[in-house]
Amino acid sequence: MKQYRSIVILTGAGISAESGLATFRAANGLWNNHRVEDVATIEAFERNPAYVHDFYNELKPELNKARPNAAHLAIARLQKEYPTPVHIITQNVDTLHEKAKSQNIWHIHGQINQAVCLNCGHILETFGDVDMQTVCPNCQTQGMMKPNIVFFGENLLYMDKVEQLLNNCDLFVSVGTSGVVFPAAAFVQTAKYHGAETVEFNLEPTSNNFYFDRHIMGPAGVTLPAYVEELLQNLQS
Ligand code: OAD
Repeated sequence: MKQYRSIVILTGAGISAESGLATFRAANGLWNNHRVEDVATIEAFERNPAYVHDFYNELKPELNKARPNAAHLAIARLQKEYPTPVHIITQNVDTLHEKAKSQNIWHIHGQINQAVCLNCGHILETFGDVDMQTVCPNCQTQGMMKPNIVFFGENLLYMDKVEQLLNNCDLFVSVGTSGVVFPAAAFVQTAKYHGAETVEFNLEPTSNNFYFDRHIMGPAGVTLPAYVEELLQNLQS
C-alpha cells in the first residue's frame, strides 16, 4: 500500500491540447501571428493597451467554449477519491480545471476570464470584452483594467502558497508543460530537493528531464487516467 501525504500537479498548455486549444510553442501555437513582445509583456500593455485587450478579447470565445478532456477529469477524480490533499498549480489561463469540477486550483499565470483594476486591485470576472472604456465596478475608474494574465516582467500569482506546497509535497506531477518558462520550470527542482517523487507527462522529453524520476510519454488524455487509476489502486494493494 502506498499513500502520499500531499500531491501537487503542475499543468501546462499540453493538458488542454486534447480539448482543442493550441499550445504556446507548437507551430500553430497561440503566439502564432503575434509577437510575444506585442501581447504578453508589461511594456506592450503600457505602450498599446487597446491592442493587448483586443488580443485577449479575441481569445475568450474559444476558451469559453472549450470542454475539459479526460486528463482534466482524471485529476478531478483523484481530488475526489484520494484521502489526502491534491493541489493543482496551473500555468493555463483557461478554466478547464474549474469546468472539470476540480478544487484547490492555483492559476499562477492568471485567468482569461478575469481583469484586474490597476487602480484598486479589484478582480472583475467576465468572459465578455474588457477594454479601455471599461469602468471598474469597485472604484469607478475608467481605463485602468488590465487582463488578469501574468505578463513577462510581472510577478507570478500565489507564490507564497506555491512555495509552501512545493516544500511539503511528497509527489510532484507535471503534465503538458515544455519547462522553458521560469519560475514554473524550476518547481520540479524545489519539490525534488524537498524529497518529493517526481513524475512527468508529456508527448516528448523536455529540457527538465534531469529532475524527474519517471517520464510517461503520450497524450495526457490517455496516460493520466491510467496513472490516476494506478494511484488509487495503490491505496488498496
Ligand atoms: P508550451 O506550449 O511551451 O508546452 C506545451 C507542452 O505540452 C509541450 O512540451 C508539448 O510536448 C506538450 N503536449 C502537447 N500536447 C500534449 C498532450 N496531448 N499530452 C501531453 N503533453 C502534451 O506550454 P507551457 O509549458 O504551458 O504563459 O508554456 C508555459 C507558459 O508559456 C504559458 O503559461 C504561457 C507562455 O508564456 C502565460 O500565458 C503567462
